[in-house]
Amino acid sequence: MRRLRTQVAIVGAGPSGLLLSHLLALRGIDSIVLEQRSRDYVEQRVRAGLLEQGTVDLLREAGLADRLDREGLVHEGFELRFDGSQHRLPFTELTGWTTCMYGQQEMVKDLIRAREAAGGQVHFSVDDVAPRDVATTCPRVRCTIAGDAVEIAADFIAGCDGFHGVCRQTIPAGAVTTYEHVYPFAWLGILAAVPPSTVELLYAVHERGFALHSMRSPAISRLYLQVAPAEPLADWPDHRIWAELRTRFALDGEEALNEGPILSRSVTEMRSFAMEPMQYGRLFLAGDAAHIVPPSAAKGLNLAAADVRVLAAALTVWYAEGRPDLLEGYSRVCLAAMWQGQEFSAVMTSLLHRFPDEDRYAVKLRQARLRDLVTSRAAATAFAEQYVGLARTRLTGAAGAALSARPAQR
Ligand code: FAD
Ligand code: DHB
Repeated sequence: MRRLRTQVAIVGAGPSGLLLSHLLALRGIDSIVLEQRSRDYVEQRVRAGLLEQGTVDLLREAGLADRLDREGLVHEGFELRFDGSQHRLPFTELTGWTTCMYGQQEMVKDLIRAREAAGGQVHFSVDDVAPRDVATTCPRVRCTIAGDAVEIAADFIAGCDGFHGVCRQTIPAGAVTTYEHVYPFAWLGILAAVPPSTVELLYAVHERGFALHSMRSPAISRLYLQVAPAEPLADWPDHRIWAELRTRFALDGEEALNEGPILSRSVTEMRSFAMEPMQYGRLFLAGDAAHIVPPSAAKGLNLAAADVRVLAAALTVWYAEGRPDLLEGYSRVCLAAMWQGQEFSAVMTSLLHRFPDEDRYAVKLRQARLRDLVTSRAAATAFAEQYVGLARTRLTGAAGAALSARPAQR
C-alpha cells in the first residue's frame, strides 16, 4: 500500500472539486484530487452553460477567466414565449447584473489546465475511492491509482463527487436529514453545430411542453425539450427533435429554426435533493454531492461554486488562525443559499412546464403568473434578482458576515 499525505483530499474533479483545489492552492493549502473518470471524459461531458455574474466574478478573482472573458457570451435579458406572444425580461436593466453563457466543460478544461500549470495533483481514472475515519481528526481516503493501492491521510476530506458519488454514502443515515422531490418529466438536451437562431435565451411555454433555446458560442446551439421521464433516446431521431422544437418555438405557425448536425444528446431527469447538514466530522460535501436542483433555473453549477467559495474561506481561516467556527458554520451558510436556489428552481420549473396530471384550472393559473411576470416591474425585478443570483449573494454575504463576526471558539 502506497501512503500519501495532503491537507485536503478532494473526491471528484467536476467543477466543485477542481475549483476548490485551485482556491485552496491560491491560499497555500495543499490538496489531492481523485476522479474516477478519465480526463477526456470529464472535459467532454456536456452539461451546464449559464454562469451567474457572481460565479464569473469568483473565477475572475481566482485568475481563471482569461478564456471565459474572451469567449463567454454576456447576456442582459431573455425571451419568454407563451400564449402565442413573445416578451423580453431585461434582467440587467432590472438588477444591474448580467449572466454569461460558457460551457461547463470549457470551465472544467480551464480548471484542469490551471491545476496542471501550478503543479497541482489531480488523478484521473482512480478506482475504489473510499473515505475512512471521517468522524476522527485523521481522516483517510483509500483508492486505486494506476493499479496501485493507495492510502491518503488528510486533515479534511471534501466530497465533491456529484449526486452519485461515494462520500455522501459514508455518512451514517441518522446523522443527516434528506429531502427529495422527483418531477414527472425530463429534459431531452442536444448540442448542435449550428449558429443559434436567437441572440438571447428563449424559454417557450407550449401546450405540448416546455422548450429552451440556449447556446454555447456563435456556432454552437444548446436546445432542450420537456419529455416524459426516462424517455428512450431511440424514439427521438434528429428530424423528430427539430420538428418538435419548431412546433414549440413557433409564434405564428411555422417558425424558422437553424438546424444542423447534433453533436450530443441526453435525457436528464428533473429532481431536487438536499441534505442537512452538509458536513460530518472532517467530511465536507459541496455541489451536487450535497444537493441537486432541476435544471430549469440553471442553478446547479452556480450553487456548487457558492459552496466551494465558502468552504475554501473556512479552511483558510482554520489553517491560518486555527479557528474552527467558519468550518462549523459551513452548512448553515451554504444551506440558506441552497434552499433559496431550490425554491427558485421549483418556481421556474412549475412556471415553465406542463404537468401530466394538471387540470385546466392549473393551466390558467400558470398563464396568470406568466402575464404578471411580463407586466409587473415589481414581479419581474424579484424574479430577475433570483435568476441572476443577486438575491442569493446578498443572503450568503449577510450570513457569512454574521459568522465571521463571531468570537473564535477555541
Ligand atoms: P459533478 O459535475 O457531478 O462532478 C462530480 C465529479 O465526481 C464527476 O467528475 C464524477 O465523475 C466524480 N465522481 C463521482 N463519483 C466518484 C467516485 N466514487 N470517486 C471519484 N470521483 C467520483 N447548472 C447551472 O448552474 N447552470 C446551467 O445552465 C445548468 N444546466 C444544466 C443542464 C443539464 C442538462 C444538467 C444535467 C445539469 C445542469 N446544471 C446547470 C447543473 C450542473 O451541471 C451541476 O450542478 C454541476 O455539474 C455540479 O458540479 P459538481 O462538481 O458538484 O458535480
Ligand atoms: C441552460 C440551462 C438552463 O437550465 C437554463 O435555464 C438556461 C441555460 C443551458 O444549459 O444553456
